[in-house]
Amino acid sequence: MNHLSQTMDKLSNHWRKRAVVNNGGDPSFNIPLEADKEDFLPELLPFFNTPQWRAAPAQMKRDVLSYAWVLYNHKTVYVESELITPVCEDLLKGRYPISCAFKTQEIIAQAMVDEAVHTQMSINAANAILTLRDLPSPEYHRFFMTSRRDHLLSQHADARAKRLVALGIACASETLVTDYLDKIATADTIQPLCRQVTAAHANDELAHSSVFTIILENVIHSLSEEEKELVVRSIFESVAMFANKELDVWRSVLKQLNFPDYEAMLAASSDEPDTAVYVNGVSNLLERTGLTSYREAVAA
Ligand SMILES: [Fe+2]
Ligand SMILES: [Fe+2]
Repeated sequence: MNHLSQTMDKLSNHWRKRAVVNNGGDPSFNIPLEADKEDFLPELLPFFNTPQWRAAPAQMKRDVLSYAWVLYNHKTVYVESELITPVCEDLLKGRYPISCAFKTQEIIAQAMVDEAVHTQMSINAANAILTLRDLPSPEYHRFFMTSRRDHLLSQHADARAKRLVALGIACASETLVTDYLDKIATADTIQPLCRQVTAAHANDELAHSSVFTIILENVIHSLSEEEKELVVRSIFESVAMFANKELDVWRSVLKQLNFPDYEAMLAASSDEPDTAVYVNGVSNLLERTGLTSYREAVAA
């Protein structure tokens, strides 16, 4: 049995034992809400260090934190539905060059179950907070992340090239877990629902990143040098996509809330560093798939 086949067997067995869906499912239905707890960590807001944030009324700050939780979950839904699922569907339907087709289908179908659970969990957890706080749905156009992905795909007329860009983004996004996951999952100051839902998601994503690494390793064999560069380039594009502070989305929501002086606050926060993402995952992905040497070509 070759290395790919063995690794896929291990991942499949791991999923049967460890996935949230096989261990009681979405925990969000059974977690009592605590109205006095904040729904998100203030220090993760892109405008946390601004004077306008510090000066804002306490209730306004609490509403912003509730929306931060909701936006985080909405973004998760977009990651699952726009970045990951389309690639999984193409993999299932044999639209990528792969070996060990049955096993690939098996681990991808399992990952799709997880992503569907995460989508349901995110929607449930976001709506539970909106209901608790009696807040309307946030109004915003779209996340930078999804419009940037559309832009990157639109640069290629050829269907195969588009699929390779989508694959690079999907594989990278599965390793680019933000600091959010870890920090929220371990913060005992915040709403237990938010903490536990994030911890459940983090549990699955830990196993997931290996699924997508093995898929990339599987596909990469049959690609030309040029195609490998294309995949690596889209992996690096994903880092900036994930680190983006999504200030346009925030602008709409802060306007909706009538947040005092929100334009000045956003202007001040545009100098703040991007959201921290675990870029080590990208280095590991390139190393494990033998793509490290393409890094320089892409950077040039
Ligand atoms: Fe997920
Ligand atoms: Fe995932």
